[in-house]
Amino acid sequence: MNIVYLDEIDSTNSYAKRNFDNFDDRTVISASVQNDGRGRYGRKWVDLGEGNLFLSIILKPSKDFKQVYACLTQYLSVILCHVLKDYSLEPSIKWPNDVLIGDKKIAGILCETVMSKNTFKGLVLGIGVNLNAQKNDLLLIKDKKATSLNIELGREYEDKKLFTEKLLSAFLKDYESFLNKGFLLIRHDYLNACKFLGKEVCVNIFNEKKCGKATDINNLGELVLEHKNKKIALTMGDIL
Ligand code: BTN
Repeated sequence: MNIVYLDEIDSTNSYAKRNFDNFDDRTVISASVQNDGRGRYGRKWVDLGEGNLFLSIILKPSKDFKQVYACLTQYLSVILCHVLKDYSLEPSIKWPNDVLIGDKKIAGILCETVMSKNTFKGLVLGIGVNLNAQKNDLLLIKDKKATSLNIELGREYEDKKLFTEKLLSAFLKDYESFLNKGFLLIRHDYLNACKFLGKEVCVNIFNEKKCGKATDINNLGELVLEHKNKKIALTMGDIL
């Protein structure tokens, strides 16, 4: 696996997109400092210091966009849960891809499609994991409660290189199978990690809000909400 280590960058996703043509499929861009990290829906991803993980995987799986790519973030969230379980933690997933410990977010995932004019070129799959944060610094994250691996484990410092290797090798191990089988490959593990199923939830989709009982995650990874005997399947949004 080819990993490009950068000292400081605006965003590993932005860098990967700018230099997409120069890198092979599955190249990983990792940065020590990310000074303009981006989250979903135009949000910021706060840099909590060098010990934290910021990386993007360049993916060039085919010449055309396929439906299965829409579930790549969910695939990576399941992989991350497996890695965190090896640290004896009990992670959960908040649809579609926030990974939490208790009610606190430990990681965020952002997948972006790379196009040239109207032609699909591939994807950049970025992930940020809080590995080594100071409790006070977590207060810099305003929109959600956050945590980090070192705090959850009550340890001084977590080995970023080791964690990165574990995450990437787990990602690559089942990546081909995921491309072939899609969400069905991970559905069982994904459902096991979902804490909100069976509960009333509201989902923000841009400026629209949909509320209902979260009854299922269907075979396409969509969230099924039931409201007044009507079912809707959501492809995007954020559970509030
Ligand atoms: C979110 O939860 O909204 C997604 C956050 C994704 C953050 C990662 S950090 C590495 C990569 N580079 C970015 O600018 N964003 C992603």
